[in-house]
Amino acid sequence: MQMLKIVFCAVNFLSSAQVLYSQTDNFALAKGPHRDLVLQNCLGCHSELIITQNHMSRRSWDQKITWMQQTQNLWPLAPELRSKILDYLEYTQGPLAIKEEKDFMDGLGPRRANPLLFNPKGGN
Ligand code: HEC
Repeated sequence: MQMLKIVFCAVNFLSSAQVLYSQTDNFALAKGPHRDLVLQNCLGCHSELIITQNHMSRRSWDQKITWMQQTQNLWPLAPELRSKILDYLEYTQGPLAIKEEKDFMDGLGPRRANPLLFNPKGGN
């Protein structure tokens, strides 16, 4: 019975966290694949802004995750989960965004609206 209660509490907690994310999601993370997994795994220790202010390759994101695991107590991420999180980071926070910013700063023409970042507060 005690065990049942613990399981019930855990399920309850997890599903209420889900509801919280889906109903009050005004996180400044661009739309992209597996955004929900980033919400669930990456905002426990710092805000999402630390993610949006970084642009790098998939490989560098992977190394950054390893660094957090080795030095900042980030929990292990199963390979499939990690790969999905990297899909998101590569898609929305890849080096391309920097290039667009740089082209703009260099005055090389009008800023092209980045469809990925167009509505950063949008849902999935
Ligand atoms: C267990 C806690 C924890 C979790 C969960 C976590 N991080 Fe971090 N992360 C940290 C700490 C601590 C820092 C250093 C913060 C600072 O320098 O102020 C950090 C820093 C960062 C940085 C900046 C690194 C730099 O070089 O400046 C990025 C980017 C980042 N995290 C992304 C992520 C992503 C993506 C995830 C999800 C996969 C994630 N974090 C999940 C603890 C965590």
